[in-house]
Amino acid sequence: MERIVEIEKFEAEGNYEKSLRPSRWDDYIGQEKIKNNLEVFIQASLARGEALDHILFFGPPGLGKTTLANIISGMMGSNIKTTAAPMIEKAGDLAAMLTNIEEGDILFIDEIHRMSPAIEEILYPAMEDFRLDIIIGSGPAAQSVKIDLPRFTLIGATTRAGMLSSPLRERFGMHFRMEFYTADELAEIVRRAADRLGCGIEEKASLEIAKRSRGTPRIALRLLRRVRDFSEVAGEDIITIESAKFGLDRLGVNHLGFDEQDIRLLELLISAKGRPMGLSTIAAAMSEDEGTIEDVLEPYLIANGYIERTARGRIATPKTYEMFRLTPPSAGGLFG
Ligand code: ADE
Repeated sequence: MERIVEIEKFEAEGNYEKSLRPSRWDDYIGQEKIKNNLEVFIQASLARGEALDHILFFGPPGLGKTTLANIISGMMGSNIKTTAAPMIEKAGDLAAMLTNIEEGDILFIDEIHRMSPAIEEILYPAMEDFRLDIIIGSGPAAQSVKIDLPRFTLIGATTRAGMLSSPLRERFGMHFRMEFYTADELAEIVRRAADRLGCGIEEKASLEIAKRSRGTPRIALRLLRRVRDFSEVAGEDIITIESAKFGLDRLGVNHLGFDEQDIRLLELLISAKGRPMGLSTIAAAMSEDEGTIEDVLEPYLIANGYIERTARGRIATPKTYEMFRLTPPSAGGLFG
């Protein structure tokens, strides 16, 4: 199941992150469970000559949702149109996109949890019956127009599956939760990216970058580029473990991959001495918006056992106290 989508096309866009993204199924590392299932669904729909059912990808940012959507379009041999929900302001914007697609095409909508309810209403019949139901004009002269659409595949991506309305969520035939990557998977991604950037990298250096990337390819690729800068300026031929460590430390990324913001969040929770802290309090104390804390900062810290979410707010776990070489508070009896 291999299909080559021109790599040159991505590179021509002059966007380094895009050019480092894999464009072939076999080059996409990790997310094995998702890949194994998707492979079956893609094969089945190709064999039937039908459009693939609608797909929802959810999970923290930077885990490869957009990349996977592009790879799927390559596998299906279909065109992909990409947009983000906040860009669809009027019903007409969505109608224009839907009437411009061809049979089997993919419409990729990022941040789909930010779709306005009025636009969602138009999406329902489009997804379910491949029919556009729109009102043209207003007042007594308003007319309802129905247009048949080609069968297409909607791929939605969101960092917040919980914020999707249930009618919208239920209209996706496949739901995939993106997982954080292991250090080995990220090290492989870093090695391949270094190759494409034309720089050598020591095995240990790629693993060091991987370990400090919070399970996230987008972070690993960003750190690789910065570490390469340090390495080149130091006059190295290949990126060594020494310059990787030096660069990562200089970037304020600690040995666990936590940056200054993660540390601030953990310190804040520790300062609460075992009492749960509400999201709005955290956001105000960090001058950060609640969504960023919930979607970007917390998931990795929770997945790795540094923060617990309780009904009354967030608390630091014993693991966090250990990281700061502190003794967990026992007075509240939270951890026995
Ligand atoms: N670059 C970004 N995400 C990737 C992945 N999952 N596999 C390979 N390269 C990547």
